[in-house]
Amino acid sequence: SNLDTKNVKFLNGERKFEARGKVGQTLLDVVVEHDLDLDGFGACEGTLACCTCHVILRKSHYEREDKLNPAGEEELDLLDMAPELNDYSRLGCQIKITNKDAEVIEVVVPSITRDARNS
Ligand code: FES
Repeated sequence: SNLDTKNVKFLNGERKFEARGKVGQTLLDVVVEHDLDLDGFGACEGTLACCTCHVILRKSHYEREDKLNPAGEEELDLLDMAPELNDYSRLGCQIKITNKDAEVIEVVVPSITRDARNS
């Protein structure tokens, strides 16, 4: 049902992408399923090796995730390499859509990405 989906907005510089995401999917899953034109996003396919899926969450979203699903050591190490790191940065392959999320989830995708495997 519609209750099990959320509207996800990806803000990428001047560009904005919107797609329906299902509860249980990661933000990376949404990008892949809808083939959103975010160049290089999710290069390691969610295997916690690249940091190209860096997203900046809204404060309330970040704080909820930080309680329920805090970043692990691998994620933190990768985030250290991500350009435009912010206090509310996470990796999109580690953030799942939940029923607790607002109807509209908005994340910023920095326009510069870096693949940690190449450094
Ligand atoms: Fe590579 Fe998330 S897709 S770390």
